Amino acid sequence: MSKVTVVGAGNVGATAANVIALREVADEVVMIDIKEGVSEGKAMDMMQTANLLDMNTCINGVTNYYEATANSDVVVITSGIPRKPGMTREELIGVNAGIVKQVTESVLKHSPNAVIVCVSNPMDTMTYLIHKISGLPKNRIIGMGGALDSSRFKYYLSKALNANPNEVEGFVIGGHGDTTMIPMKRYAAYRGIPVSTLLDAETLDKVVADTMVGGATLTKLLGTSAWYAPGAATAEVVEAVIHDQKCMIPCSALLEGEYGEKDLCIGVPCILGKGGIEKIVELDLNEEEKALFAKSAAAVHKTNEALPA
Ligand code: NAI
Ligand code: 2OP
Repeated sequence: MSKVTVVGAGNVGATAANVIALREVADEVVMIDIKEGVSEGKAMDMMQTANLLDMNTCINGVTNYYEATANSDVVVITSGIPRKPGMTREELIGVNAGIVKQVTESVLKHSPNAVIVCVSNPMDTMTYLIHKISGLPKNRIIGMGGALDSSRFKYYLSKALNANPNEVEGFVIGGHGDTTMIPMKRYAAYRGIPVSTLLDAETLDKVVADTMVGGATLTKLLGTSAWYAPGAATAEVVEAVIHDQKCMIPCSALLEGEYGEKDLCIGVPCILGKGGIEKIVELDLNEEEKALFAKSAAAVHKTNEALPA
């Protein structure tokens, strides 16, 4: 029996729970929120799709009742406030740090062996905070951001190439921020063909720029941050862990010398399996990419400094 808990049954949490359930990633999904009735209502609504969609996952919703989350294999943390138009993810730190701390302590009391997937923003800093307060082995804490940013990169690439998004390869490393993420255009490919041979430099640079503000573009349109792709990207990470897939997905990981950085969590390609982050893949960055990574890491360090003592 496999069990996933999703903390925060808002836009991203509920979407992630729904995708996890529909794809039958786990046998049981528990949603937990502080808002009375919301998790219960969304779980009941999702369970009423079971016979329509041939879904066999059991979804439960609870209000602040952590006993129901006991013995989860994976716990996803989405609780916290999202950004409004014009806000950066970094501006959320004060409120979300308190929530993420309380939630981490509560879930670990009941699921001491779980792999934690952090989604709450500013995600790299919240992932780092979980390391600091939990004392868990570093492989068991995964920050979800790169899976989403990479999917957005592939979306914009597919638009520029007029291609099927499923035939496009690409990934994003660095911080999960409008100015810190690094879409890796050198490795982007269309069915194995480097996109640099298919798109001119100006078009490729526009794809990179659109990817970097992909979240902000949606926040402006929606009045709050997006949830369909964030929820699906979270489910992809959870699936890789629960099904021990050994997939390479960029995630925010604690670095201890990799990429010349330490004492921060930032997006790097990771092999995900039952143990969480089973390996950090060290790419041979060129000089331009090294400079971008160092700049991104400096920005993430700066945000970490704003964590409440
Ligand atoms: P939302 O407002 O729809 O949902 C957040 C939920 O958290 C609410 O239902 C709220 O009641 C709940 N919550 C607040 N405090 C709680 C607590 N102490 N315990 C349990 N539940 C609590 O927000 P949304 O859109 O779902 O975003 C959630 C977070 O995810 C935000 O911080 C957002 O910025 C972040 N996000 C991160 C992404 C990533 O790629 N890492 C992508 C999209 C959003
Ligand atoms: C997003 O990228 C705001 O992190 C959120 O949609």
